[in-house]
Order: sequence, then C-alpha cells, then structure tokens
Amino acid sequence: MMKIKASVHPLLLAAIPVTLLLAPLPSLAESPASKEIDPDSGMVVADGWKIVKANCIACHSARLVTQNNGSRARWESLIRWMQDTQGLWQFPPEMETTILDYLTEHYGPKTDARRAPLLPSQLPINPYDVKNDKENSATGEPTA
Ligand code: HEC
Repeated sequence: MMKIKASVHPLLLAAIPVTLLLAPLPSLAESPASKEIDPDSGMVVADGWKIVKANCIACHSARLVTQNNGSRARWESLIRWMQDTQGLWQFPPEMETTILDYLTEHYGPKTDARRAPLLPSQLPINPYDVKNDKENSATGEPTA
C-alpha cells in the first residue's frame, strides 16, 4: 500500500497564524485613525471643518471640541448653552447646519465604548448633593 505523505512545507504551516493575525488589518481603513487630521487643531479634515475651526477655537482649544462626542441634539444644546451663557455668537441657519453636520458626522455618539454605562444604582454615592445644587440644576448644562 502507498503511504500518503503530507507535502505541506513546514514554513508554510508556520505562516498560517501570521496570516490570521494580519487578516483583520484592512478593517482599520475605516477607523477614525485613518481620517486626515489637521495638524494644527487636531480636527478631522472634511466638509465644513474650516467653518468649525474658524468659529469654535476662539475661546477654547480645539481639543475641547475633538475630545467630545455626541448626538446632533447634544451638539446643538452645547452651542445653545455657549450662546446663552458664554458669549458665543449666533450663526446664520445654513452655517449652523454645516457646523452641526460636521460635528455629528465626525464627533458623533461613541460606538466603541468598551462597556455599557453603569446604572445609577451601580454608581458610588455622589458626595455632592446635585439635586439641591441650584446653580447646576438650573440648566443641567456643563459648568466650567
Ligand atoms: C465665545 C466663546 C466660545 C466659542 C466661540 C465657542 N465656545 Fe465652546 N465653550 C466656551 C466656554 C466658556 C466653555 C466652557 C469652557 C470650559 O469648560 O473650560 C465651552 C465649552 C465647550 C465644550 C465642552 C462642554 C463640556 O461638556 O464640557 C465643547 C464641546 C465646546 N465648547 C464646543 C464648541 C464648539 C463646537 C464651538 C463652535 C460651534 C464652540 N465651542 C465655540 C466658549 C465658547
């Protein structure tokens, strides 16, 4: 009887795990890391970014913008809060749409959080009595 001998070269076998490791790499092409970033502001270079850069870094660092995430409603409420309390100017409606489109598209709600947020019942007791803090509860918006 003829003996069947596996003829796969050992080096080829050794290459298989490496191939498996490299396989997920193409998906990185869609990660934010591959977007073009303005070296000056750290902002994603895309439609509307110059308008945002021109209007959103006069009072604070661009990093304050780029480190934040949120839905369109959250960005809009932040803008309103800055307009109502921090001296941010009004935008013509079209410009505001451009700004909100840009922020929602590139700094939208996080989808890559590692776990769901904790329930209030799972959090430690808050030493600050938020409910009775009139200054904060008036708007529910960020303080300094
Ligand atoms: C007229 C001044 C001014 C301009 C212009 C301005 N902001 Fe702000 N913004 C503030 C101030 C003041 C704060 C609070 C700063 C702090 O917390 O140190 C703030 C805070 C923020 C925060 C952090 C909010 C938080 O939850 O901590 C974000 C995000 C933000 N601004 C985004 C923007 C965007 C987007 C624009 C452009 C549409 C913009 N800002 C333009 C004054 C401004």
